[in-house]
Amino acid sequence: AQVDKAGHRHFMAKEIAEQPSRLTAALEHYLSEDGSIRLPAPGIDFAGVDRISMVACGTASYACHVAKYWFEQIAGLPVDLDVASEFRYREPPIPARTLALFVSQSGETADTLAALRYCRDKAERILSVVNVAESSIARESDLALPILAGPEIGVASTKAFSCQLLVLGLLALEAGRQRGRLDEATVRARIDDLRAVPGLVNHALSLTEDAGRIAAKLAEARDILFLGRGRMFPLALEGALKLKEISYIHAEAYASGELKHGPIALVDKTVPVIVMAPHDELFDKTVSNMQEVMARGGRVLLVTDRAGSQSAAQGVWETLVLPDVAPVWAPILYAVPAQLLAYHTAIAKGTDVDQPRNLAKSVTVE
Ligand code: G6P
Repeated sequence: AQVDKAGHRHFMAKEIAEQPSRLTAALEHYLSEDGSIRLPAPGIDFAGVDRISMVACGTASYACHVAKYWFEQIAGLPVDLDVASEFRYREPPIPARTLALFVSQSGETADTLAALRYCRDKAERILSVVNVAESSIARESDLALPILAGPEIGVASTKAFSCQLLVLGLLALEAGRQRGRLDEATVRARIDDLRAVPGLVNHALSLTEDAGRIAAKLAEARDILFLGRGRMFPLALEGALKLKEISYIHAEAYASGELKHGPIALVDKTVPVIVMAPHDELFDKTVSNMQEVMARGGRVLLVTDRAGSQSAAQGVWETLVLPDVAPVWAPILYAVPAQLLAYHTAIAKGTDVDQPRNLAKSVTVE
């Protein structure tokens, strides 16, 4: 069926706005009536593997990067993460008891598919997380889990990213449960927290006006830095990718703690620095990185929650305030301001939001 913009100016705007309902649909699909996690038979034996090897490209690789934090912290399961275009050329040994996990919106990305074939006959099991259920990657996997984002038309991925995160988050919980790292009550509590996310994403969409106002200023920058620490580091990477894809502004992301090992040399008043930092256990460390930026005349846009904005308002150029969210799931919510800033910056620059130059929705050549 023909997909239309449903009254939105761009597919990207429509797809950003659809996230609460797509996330809800994915939650309903993967949670059973009694609130436990439901996976298609024969399920996944997370206790029977010693590590996960995750491979993907672009935005999907950043979803994997977030999931690495989740699997390691929640389930004590070591994760190797590779961009697909490098993976097989490294000739990585794949130990027995490795779960190979491929994430792809289209399920057709040539490098990701080639990486999957490399793992065939080596890995214990081949699992994929895809949006297109009848894709090549899905077909060649032992088990393919749909993210249920619905058709994504905008070249810059939005709802697929948040739905990938949601499915990977549920898998990390399931892994934690099976490996005895989480008791049932904790799993339930984390699932309840996750159920709150679509509503919070809906709230975050109301930041569109603030994001538009700030984006008008970002549009004048030549370079923009994104910073994040811990599970927010991949969000900084995704924010920078989104921005460069559609606004053509050079954007780079760094782990906050790496700032002083190079990128701080770039900081002056012409380089906005976007800091993705909910008020969590790492917040104070990130604030000190922010202060290093401000001490050099850098303009900081702090993307945080109420407690974060209250405790670190001083000297900050702009703030975007998100609703409170369980810290573990913050990456899903913070995808929204990353998307809105990129979208409105592109609008301010007058670029082709849905069909950015030189990019393809799905890259089927290596
Ligand atoms: C292209 C798209 C990106 C996407 C990447 C991976 O570069 O423009 O938005 O993240 O491919 O695509 P996949 O379909 O494998 O997720």
